[in-house]
Amino acid sequence: MGRAFRYVIIGGGVAAGYAALEFTKKGVSHGELCIISDESVAPYERPALSKGFLNPEAPARLPGFHTCVGANEERLTPNWYKEHGIELIMETRVESADVRRKTLLTTTGETITYKFLIIATGSRAVKLEEIGITGSDAENVCYLHDLDDATKLVNMMRKCTGGNAIVVGGGYIGMECAASLVINKINVSMVFPGSYCMGRLFTPKISRYYEDFYKSKGVNFIKGTALSSFVFNSEGKVTGVNLKDGRHLPADMVVVGIGARPNTTLFTGQLTFEKGGIKVNNRLQSSNPSVYAVGDVASFPVKFSGDIRRVEHVDAARRTARHAVSAIMDPKNTSEFDYLPFFYSRVFSLSWRFYGDNVGEVVHFGDFGGTKFGVYWVNNGCLVGCFLEGGGDDDYVAVAKAVRLKPVVVDMDELRRTGVGFAVEV
Ligand code: FDA
Repeated sequence: MGRAFRYVIIGGGVAAGYAALEFTKKGVSHGELCIISDESVAPYERPALSKGFLNPEAPARLPGFHTCVGANEERLTPNWYKEHGIELIMETRVESADVRRKTLLTTTGETITYKFLIIATGSRAVKLEEIGITGSDAENVCYLHDLDDATKLVNMMRKCTGGNAIVVGGGYIGMECAASLVINKINVSMVFPGSYCMGRLFTPKISRYYEDFYKSKGVNFIKGTALSSFVFNSEGKVTGVNLKDGRHLPADMVVVGIGARPNTTLFTGQLTFEKGGIKVNNRLQSSNPSVYAVGDVASFPVKFSGDIRRVEHVDAARRTARHAVSAIMDPKNTSEFDYLPFFYSRVFSLSWRFYGDNVGEVVHFGDFGGTKFGVYWVNNGCLVGCFLEGGGDDDYVAVAKAVRLKPVVVDMDELRRTGVGFAVEV
């Protein structure tokens, strides 16, 4: 059994959805494009899974958050793909790929050939077993990467009202899940080895603000240690966790957020890799000219910082996807990809955005006891990054623009004093 398409996208996540919309804007013909996804639903805005989807009241549900609503664009329902003659092959994994022969083999035994391939296989959650702990399969141990995970988490939260949850990991998945667990009336203890939450992005001062906010909502932080093992009952359910520092905590449920790994193994030995991802040029083209990589799997040149990066952020997925399609369909009018790193999160009543790089000297500004405050990073005398909590749309536009321009900072005190005002004046 075999089929041939001009364009094939492997993966049906964020990047695939935005690529599909861009293909239609560029005039793809019916029958030319196929998306192969091992998920059971059409591409959706993955960040919704750790936010609106977990709300106890008026939760976000599909088809409400199919791509591309996150960027205020059209919502691509399964019917949209049909109407545009785009073949959505769902619940099907690509099992092997041969980029020399331009051929893919799926788990249903189908061979699919392409002229241009876009790899959009995203990443997967790191499992506890990978760090030597068993028990991921227990019915009350949850991860959060896809719709099935989110559905399991919601069902588990419903069963555990008033009970105890252990959140393993202090990154954004851990932080967003902890907030949702509290909103669902569950007692939360967060366990992570670092001294501060969100240690890779936040300064200790920002972390302290969020940790204090979480504590005021009842979250218990257990830092500087890690999970060592689970305690199970006779039915295989987790009833407690043992920590490396010898403590034991009772648990009705556990949520694990200990990182992600890109899904790139199909192409090991066939394409060039860098920084753990598929190396692409500034047109998102890999070492094989017919193959493009976008989203979480792509290691692409970031003009802003002059290096190559792999970025696990939704904005990067959307932009790399659009750019790759433009480079394929309209190469003459496609300039070099120019990306400004951008990441955001929303928890409780808080909402922050980060632009640029968090390297160099740190300048905190604003009222850390109030609702609007932030941090600038100044490297080699230039503004290179900004984190802002509680900004309005105009503030975010201003700081993004300022960071992109990398203005020289003469007076650090002025930066501290003027805060967002500095960005507005750039
Ligand atoms: P994505 O993971 O979206 O899609 C990959 C697709 O490929 C999936 O459908 C997968 O099943 C499929 N696939 C993989 N291998 C396959 C194979 N061999 N055959 C067929 N299909 C295959 N970012 C941010 O900036 N702000 C935020 O608030 C959040 N929040 C957030 C919450 C949660 C719960 C997660 C998991 C992630 C975020 N992110 C985020 C990160 C963001 O969602 C992520 O960077 C993008 O989804 C990446 O888009 P991709 O399309 O690259 O991968």
